[in-house]
Amino acid sequence: MNVKNVLRGVVACAGIAACVQFTPAPEARAARPDWTDKAVENARKQIGLEIDTIEASGKCLNPVTLTPGGKVVYCGYADWRSGFFPGSVWYLYELTGDESLRPLAEKYTEALDKAKTLTWHHDIGFIINCSYGNGLRLARKEAYKDVMVQAAKSLCTRFHEKPGVIQSWNVTGNSWQAKRGWECPVIIDNMMNLELLFEATKLSGDSTFYKVAVAHADRTLKEHFRPDGSCYHVIDYSKADGSVRHRQTAQGYADESAWSRGQAWAIYGFTMCYRETGDRKYLDQALKTFRFMKNHKNLPKDLVPYWDMDAPKIPNEPRDASSAAVIASALYEISTYDVPDAASYKDYADRILQSLASPAYTAPLGENGRFVLMHSVGSIPHNSEIDVPLNYADYYYLEAIKRKKDIEKN
Ligand code: GLY
Repeated sequence: MNVKNVLRGVVACAGIAACVQFTPAPEARAARPDWTDKAVENARKQIGLEIDTIEASGKCLNPVTLTPGGKVVYCGYADWRSGFFPGSVWYLYELTGDESLRPLAEKYTEALDKAKTLTWHHDIGFIINCSYGNGLRLARKEAYKDVMVQAAKSLCTRFHEKPGVIQSWNVTGNSWQAKRGWECPVIIDNMMNLELLFEATKLSGDSTFYKVAVAHADRTLKEHFRPDGSCYHVIDYSKADGSVRHRQTAQGYADESAWSRGQAWAIYGFTMCYRETGDRKYLDQALKTFRFMKNHKNLPKDLVPYWDMDAPKIPNEPRDASSAAVIASALYEISTYDVPDAASYKDYADRILQSLASPAYTAPLGENGRFVLMHSVGSIPHNSEIDVPLNYADYYYLEAIKRKKDIEKN
């Protein structure tokens, strides 16, 4: 079932207590737009400026981040981040009802057509599901179904029977993955790619995709987590006998640290697996990892995590707004499930969104490379994208706002 249906159907939401700070007096309420409406209006204007820039260029550009010198970086279809900008335009179309956005969302989505046959990395799930997946949901274009199913087939070529996982990165020649001595590395981020597989089974009736997704989720559940609920970034497996060869990190501070976006992918990914399978163990893990983050001594008061919860110079370490946005989106979904104190998850997500919607994280119009949110981190160990806007922060922020609004409508 699509999360939108879940959110539409299940929630009886009482959780707006966290909005107190922004809630106008009753007599003023009718006259003033809600703060989420203002956040949507701002995002429409800011992303609208980027759309104008793209359209004026005569090319089909796909913005991802900013260089230290302030230039917008655009990516090609094979980049793991290529689905987020089209996906954000779909969410804006849905949030605003602005029909002028639909042909643009279609154009930016269809520019990724070639990605459906990518087999050299695992990120095809992010790429295709965020773009074509949202397009299919909102535009019901039949041709998008074939792209989704073909992309799922491509992703499944990376499945290895013995470990029962989809390999994340190739390990070739002189690559940095080869230098780490890995054989079949799987990163926690890969949980996010499984949504494409679940969708493909629904679209095609072929249960192979579903089975691969469940096998991957089960092995990840077994190997990626520590007793405190936090997760490793990378688990490296033997293809020959399926055993674990290494437990390490690539983007975190240390092998044993808690890289924040990894925790966010785990919370979101296992929540999604619960939605798709009904298997409670996935939701239990998502909740456990969320509790780890929520109760961590280094979590800032505004609930936007440092890039790694164990980074050595906290509080003088960059925040990662992308992690906060991913967690908020997942929490809205969790708040619709049968969990104790379900409304508290929405309250918490509301508090995250209020932080992100504030001037501390939302950029002034026309600045920040025309991305909505500031202050995310790509990869500090690679000295790449530190305290910058990232298109996936914007994407999950808009998704979270959409989920919040769906819940409140009910
Ligand atoms: N999937 C890569 C990242 O989260 O940075």
